[in-house]
Amino acid sequence: MATYTARHATDTGPPLSGIIGSSPAMEEVYRTTRRVARSNASVLLLGETGTGKELIATAIHHLSNRATGPFVRVNCGALSESLLESELFGHVHGAFTGAIKNRTGRFEAAHTGTLFLDEINSTSRMLQVKLLRVLQEREFERVGDTQTIQVDVRVIAASNRNLRDLVEDHGFREDLYWRLNVVPVEIPPLRHRRDDIPQLVTHFLNHYNEVNDRYVVHIERRAMEALQDYHWPGNVRELQNYVERAVVMAEGDELTLDLLPPVVRDGGPPRGGRRGDDIDSLTYEVVQQGLLTAPPDEENLHSKIVNRVEKELIAQVMLSCNYVQTKAAARLGINRNTLHKKLKEYDLETPP
Ligand SMILES: Nc1ncnc2c1ncn2[C@@H]1O[C@H](COP(=O)(O)OP(=O)(O)O)[C@@H](O)[C@H]1O
Ligand SMILES: [Mg+2]
Repeated sequence: MATYTARHATDTGPPLSGIIGSSPAMEEVYRTTRRVARSNASVLLLGETGTGKELIATAIHHLSNRATGPFVRVNCGALSESLLESELFGHVHGAFTGAIKNRTGRFEAAHTGTLFLDEINSTSRMLQVKLLRVLQEREFERVGDTQTIQVDVRVIAASNRNLRDLVEDHGFREDLYWRLNVVPVEIPPLRHRRDDIPQLVTHFLNHYNEVNDRYVVHIERRAMEALQDYHWPGNVRELQNYVERAVVMAEGDELTLDLLPPVVRDGGPPRGGRRGDDIDSLTYEVVQQGLLTAPPDEENLHSKIVNRVEKELIAQVMLSCNYVQTKAAARLGINRNTLHKKLKEYDLETPP
């Protein structure tokens, strides 16, 4: 048995139970979360993968007057359109091939509680119409049925893409967007709140020490520096994973640099982010990837190097604009047709 009982980072008065981080950005998230929790308003959680959207959704439910009711989660990105439809609304016997008996949907299951629609951005336009109706009228029919069912459900939706952009690109219905977006909560990526990293590392160290019966209580300075410098594309989920691995692999009581994966160890100097957050980080990436070191004997250097830099730049801006071409073109300051041509030329039309 582990005898180590470390002081949890939450001892000083948890901002929200189980949620770590006291950066100004997170304080703002907690404030909004608390304020919105006691209402029945729809909440839209925006943030990259692994930023803690599900954690906040759960907190909202537990702080609300629906806390004694059910909390039901549906990952809209994990199911095909027809499966998702019957998952959400249920179906009756014979509604489609394979519907061998009546099935209650998640909206009914969440009655008097909260329904968390994760990855709402992946729903089809057809389903968006049905969702809009439930949100407005609080009623729906099971697939294949004519009987109308009424429910009392509070909806929290989450998206890892900028929904506003999707609305502009006609991938998401504007009316549904406004229905869901009564109160938006934006959870910043971890690289924008690096001050939270030490607290999170301590939190996960405590947790995994306990789970694995380990005693890793020191953190090598170089290790902490590397953790704070890394750009964390997978956010808190990625950090959690690396700390768990380090605890499992550690032979002593210290989290040392060599226990961290190469991406973190060789992370280089602090950077603003990989997603084209600012020009300096873009330049840094370009140089870092050796795009500017030209072999001395090559011909046509100018166009070759410029093409490589241009391709990298466009790829990064497209990523930061969620592949919304109008937005990327505006950001790059080039004509949309020009961008379109270049995307074809560089084979960048679809996300990698
Ligand atoms: N601020 C935080 N404090 C503690 N754990 C966190 C925090 N943010 C995220 N996590 C943990 O990271 C993982 C990913 O969080 P999750 O809510 O599933 O992210 P998302 O839904 O945005 O992808 C979970 O294990 C969660 O407990
Ligand atoms: Mg999630």
